[in-house]
Amino acid sequence: MTITDAGTSNLVAVEPGAIREDTPAGSVIQYSDYELDESSPFAGGAAWIEGEFIPAEDAKISIFDTGFGHSDLTYTVAHVWHGNIFRLGDHLDRLLDGAAKLRLDAGYAKDELAEITKKCVSLSQLRESFVNLTVTRGYGKRKGEKDLTKLTNQVYIYAIPYLWAFPPAEQIFGTTAVVPRHVRRAGRNTVDPTIKNYQWGDLTAASFEAKDRGARTAILMDADNCVAEGPGFNVVIVKDGKLASPSRNALPGITRKTVFEIADQMGIEATLRDVTSHELYEADELMAVTTAGGVTPINTLDGEPIGNGEPGPLTVAIRDRFWALMDEPSPLIEPITY
Ligand SMILES: Cc1ncc(COP(=O)(O)O)c(C=O)c1O
Repeated sequence: MTITDAGTSNLVAVEPGAIREDTPAGSVIQYSDYELDESSPFAGGAAWIEGEFIPAEDAKISIFDTGFGHSDLTYTVAHVWHGNIFRLGDHLDRLLDGAAKLRLDAGYAKDELAEITKKCVSLSQLRESFVNLTVTRGYGKRKGEKDLTKLTNQVYIYAIPYLWAFPPAEQIFGTTAVVPRHVRRAGRNTVDPTIKNYQWGDLTAASFEAKDRGARTAILMDADNCVAEGPGFNVVIVKDGKLASPSRNALPGITRKTVFEIADQMGIEATLRDVTSHELYEADELMAVTTAGGVTPINTLDGEPIGNGEPGPLTVAIRDRFWALMDEPSPLIEPITY
């Protein structure tokens, strides 16, 4: 294992780039100080596939799973920070609700899935982890079986080192976005956004367009020119001291729910409603919010500054409060037993 000096922080970097990324010194985002016991094959990543725990690098599923072939699945991504899993119950509720809407049977009760998930994290030893749970339509006895009644639904779970939708430095100093010219987010009449899904065709096209235009990410509009969401995140606007976020054509994100709860505790009004493109460009502050990236200020949109082009005060206060929640004993977090 490689140990590097983490500069001014007291943290030890374990396998830089794989287990952790640089975080701004003194910021609210700091990794735990620990080392993996590499004598375990699960150290650094574990999966649960067809009833067995497997080291993450050996995790493979059938090519005949219709989750792969037809994206016939739902999933969630939870996270572990400082050895605490965040809002696992909410993630499981969303996953099981989505599965029920798709007529998928996970075959496990909520508390059983919770235990398997925590065991995966525990085996991985990761104190900061990206935890994916997926329920697929599965596959049948006959190769390539398409008869939906003959498929055995599957559950796959894995815990790997934290993945950032926005690197920690962007979360502290802000990032850039464009509104794509060439693609819109699929409407709820096509893909139900309340079921977390891998229909990412529009989001991926938007990501490429953002890259072509020199921005980090994209905020997609829906067919009515209202804000939908971005590749892997919800959008929250701040205007005149109030928060708003799209009520339709966007995933009901668990980070956004947390942001709204934090706003409520701070006495800030927060509303789910239609947010027009006009409101997006006229916002005082913009934030991208997601499990794999917390609360990231968006400093510029289409190359123009949002507010004064720096992370805004409400975004910063909410971001800092969000990360504080990862350590404070509350029903939102549950310590993993390692
Ligand atoms: C399309 C999309 N919207 C929003 C989000 C944010 O959801 P959450 O806060 O539950 O991670 C995600 C997360 O992956 C996403 O993929």
